[in-house]
This record gives sequence, structure tokens and C-alpha cells, in this order.
Amino acid sequence: MSVQLEKIKELIQLRATAHLGGGQKRIDSQHQKGKFTARERINMLLDEGSFDEIDTFVLHRSTNFGIDKTKFLGDGVVTGSGTIDGRLVYVFAQDFTVFGGALSEMLASKICKVMKLAMEMGAPVIGLNDSGGARIQEGINALSGYGDIFQNNILASGVVPQISAIFGPCAGGAVYSPALTDFNIMSKGTSYMFLTGPKVVKTVTGEDVTQEQLGGASVHASKSGVAHFAVDNEEEGIRLIRHLLSFIPQNNMEDAPCVEPTDAIDRVDDALNEIIPDQPNKGYNMYEVIGTIVDNGEFLEIHRDWAKNIIIGFARFNGQSVGIVANQPMVMAGALDSNASRKAARFVRFCDAFNIPLVTLVDVPGFLPGTGQEYNGVIVHGAKLLYAYGEATVPKITVTLRKSYGGAYIVMSSKHLRSDVNLAWPSAEIAVMGPAGAVEVIFAKEVAAAENPAEAAAQKEEEYRKAFANPYNAASYGFMDDVIEPRNTRFRIIRALEQLRTKKQINPAKKHDNLPL
Ligand code: COA
Repeated sequence: MSVQLEKIKELIQLRATAHLGGGQKRIDSQHQKGKFTARERINMLLDEGSFDEIDTFVLHRSTNFGIDKTKFLGDGVVTGSGTIDGRLVYVFAQDFTVFGGALSEMLASKICKVMKLAMEMGAPVIGLNDSGGARIQEGINALSGYGDIFQNNILASGVVPQISAIFGPCAGGAVYSPALTDFNIMSKGTSYMFLTGPKVVKTVTGEDVTQEQLGGASVHASKSGVAHFAVDNEEEGIRLIRHLLSFIPQNNMEDAPCVEPTDAIDRVDDALNEIIPDQPNKGYNMYEVIGTIVDNGEFLEIHRDWAKNIIIGFARFNGQSVGIVANQPMVMAGALDSNASRKAARFVRFCDAFNIPLVTLVDVPGFLPGTGQEYNGVIVHGAKLLYAYGEATVPKITVTLRKSYGGAYIVMSSKHLRSDVNLAWPSAEIAVMGPAGAVEVIFAKEVAAAENPAEAAAQKEEEYRKAFANPYNAASYGFMDDVIEPRNTRFRIIRALEQLRTKKQINPAKKHDNLPL
């Protein structure tokens, strides 16, 4: 065999070794835990045959505790680029079979390399996390690696979409990279995220808690809001990443891809004309409204199980991607609270950063009252949503279905926050507060002095309702652009989106804003 062929043979052997990561035994153990390996995950994620790996031959250079005697090609992370539905993405997948995917200086530098490439090329970055945290043997060099990754997450934020999936452990400092990214997906039963594990919790607070209870997928998707999605298994998580990207542009300079529309733009739905119950305190399901008006009823909900009083997610109108924000009258009567405000605010900002128009569906009786909310800082959290809408320069379309009271009226993409097209259903009620509350405040003395206070209160409520419980008062000032028949909502939104396609609005120049955090 010629020298050249010998060298090629060596290359092939090295590559085969690299593909085995930490070795067959550890791969088997990964499979036994119901998990895929880093390479299997990447192969499932990307279009077939599109993966271009880089840094296959990177090795760690630590010598502490004899670790220099154990080296694996690639050093615990598989990185590179590929395509999803033909669009370029950069990807890194931590390899649990190599030192438990623990993060070393060199491993971090591989991740940073793909993040920088993604920013230069204007393509999304997808991180598949499965790691025991900082590589203990490397000490400060591992920690500095995390710092470098965070710094790149921060620089990439709002420039290219960043998506994290957690398919295994993610503890300590490791949690902050996913937290800095735009979307965080966790697999149920096999992943967990926490700053300090159950043992430390027990020592410090005396609390007995399992990994699952402390930081499992369901906990983060329903209680903390750290995870945007909890999926049943890795395959579902990977399909979700592909689906999510279909609604999102490659970077902040581009628009989201348009798909060939297959749903008529003038499709009316008579059921919408009767969806609002006659009784003002009765709920109805906002999902039905969303499902009816968007293309083919297709809605990708985000944060489905957290702060359910507000609904957020992606859908399309005539093939164009939009972000939907909608109050849910079925949960807490659709009132806004701290979590709902935070949830919607981050989503509004994501859509604004990536040129995705916003469609807001309003039925909000106000902010949730009480010490629980006030002590928890609902003023500041509510301000986040207000701020997010007010700073957003993407096309904004708002449809008021029923209630829109008080501060919540202003917050929910009102005309006063530069919303472009504000439409109301005839059932809309726009006022400082609901009739009963208003009468109690402004007619308290009159009602008390009346011969029949109950009758007097009812009469005053009726008077109030006539004056304010309709969309025409707001429309008389131009704060509603039009009052529409509910069944035409889809058509009117599509027309508005077409009209707003060329919208250009620029905020005053500044170093950055000071969003109330
Ligand atoms: N640094 C170096 N090596 C690590 C590591 C770390 N942070 N975490 C795991 N490993 C290694 C283990 O030594 C083991 O190596 P081996 O295959 O050569 O035996 C391998 O990764 C797998 O770990 P193991 O503990 O056998 O897997 P597990 O599934 O039972 O447990 C963890 C996984 C993550 C719960 C456990 O490894 C752990 O607690 N790691 C430390 C977590 C931590 O506190 N990290 C620092 C936070 S910043």
C-alpha cells in the first residue's frame, strides 16, 4: 500500500473511532436509558445526508488528575452545519458517552465556533444538551468555557434564532445557555435542569425532592416556565424543532418563509358570530377562535402548560407566519397576571426581533387583583408586556372580541402602543372597568340613598353598559379602526397583513433599552 493510501486508511480509522464517541459500552448504556447518542440526534434532526461535521479531531488538553491519559476524538460534543427543509442551520450535540458530556475548555470552544459561524452566516443555532456540567478535572478552564458560550448566546440573541433541547442532565452553570436561548425543549423522564441538585437542596434547605420534582420537563413546562415545551420523547422533540423553524426566519434581516397557501383567504366561519356567550361572566374557548381563523387550523402553541390565561404561538395567514397572542377566557377569565405578562412579553419581543407580525386577540377583564400578585411584582411584570408591545415595530393587528378593561386594554396591543390595525367585534366592551365595579365607585352614594338600592344599581349599570359596553365609543375616537362581523375575522386579518407588508417604523437610536426586568 502506498504511503498516501496508508494515510487515507488512518483517516478513515480515526473517523470511525471518533464516531464511536466514548465507546460502544457507553453507547449501549445511553440506549438503555432510552436516550439517543449525539450523532443519532443530529441525523434525525437534519435533512438526510446534509450534516457537515467540523472539529472531529479536537482533543482536550488538560493534564489534571491523569485525565491526559483519557482522550476521545471530538472531546464530548459533535458540531457542524446542515440543513432543515433545505435551510442552513448550525448544530451542536453534547455527547454523554464522553466524560458524561461534561464541558471542557476545548468542548466549549467547539460550541463557540459554530455559534460564531451561525452569526456570520445568518443561520439558526440548535443546541442538543446532555451533559454532566463543567468537567470537574478542568476547573477554571471549564468555567471559562461556559462564560464564552454565554457571551456568544448573548451576542447571537436577536440576531439568529437559538433553540435548545435538553435530552439529559443540565445542571449548575450549564442551565444558563439554554435559558439565554429563544426556545427550550425538554424530554419528559430523561431530562432535568436545576442550578443545584437534590443532594445540595437537602443539605441547605432540608427539603426532600427528587430530580424529576426539582427540575423535570413537566415542572419546567408548567410551574417555572423555564421550558417552552415538554415532549414525550426525543423524536418528538426533534420533530418539534423542525416544525418550529418553519415559522421563523433565518436571521433578523430576513422574513419568515412563506408557504404555499391551501386555505381560502375569504373562508368565513358562521360559528364565530355566535361564539360569545350572552352572559358576560361566561367563558368560551379561545383555541376555537384561533383554530378557525388561521390557515388550516394549524397552530404551534408555545408554553402550553404555563400561564394558561394567555395563549401564545405561531400560525399562518395566507401562508405568512405570524405570532398570536390571545387572552384565554376559560382560565382566570383571561385576566393578566405576572406569569402571563412575562410569557407574552418574551414572545412579543422574539417576534419583533425576527420580523414576525403580531396578531393579538383580546378578551381581558383586567389584571388579576390581590396581594399575591402585587407582592410578586405584577406592576413590573405587566410593564414588560406593555413595553414589549410599545417597542415592537413589526406589523401589529389587534382584534377585540369582548372585554378590554382598564390598564389591560392599553397593554394588549392598543392603538396607543402603535398597533397598526385595531378591529373590534360588535360584542367588544372597552372601558376603564366592568359595569358592576364602575357603579360601585362612581354611583355609591346615589345607590345607597335610593329607595331600592339593588334596583338603582341595576339601572346605573344599564346606563353604563349603554355608554361603554360596546366598541363604538372607542371607534368614535378612532381607537378602533373598524367594527367587524366575527365570521369575517380571518379575511380582515389577511387583508391587514397584506396592507402592512411594507411597514417601516424605527425607534429612536439608543445603546439599548431599559426594559423593566
Ligand atoms: N466532570 C467530569 N466527568 C463527569 C462529569 C463532570 N462534571 N459528570 C459526569 N462525568 C463522567 C463520569 O465520571 C462518568 O465517567 P465514566 O464513564 O468514565 O465512568 C461519565 O461521565 C458518566 O457519568 P455517570 O455519573 O456514570 O452517569 P449518571 O447517568 O449515573 O449520572 C450525572 C449523570 C450528571 C447525574 C452525574 O454524572 C453527576 O452528578 N455529575 C456531576 C454533575 C455536576 O455537579 N456538575 C457540575 C455542575 S457545573
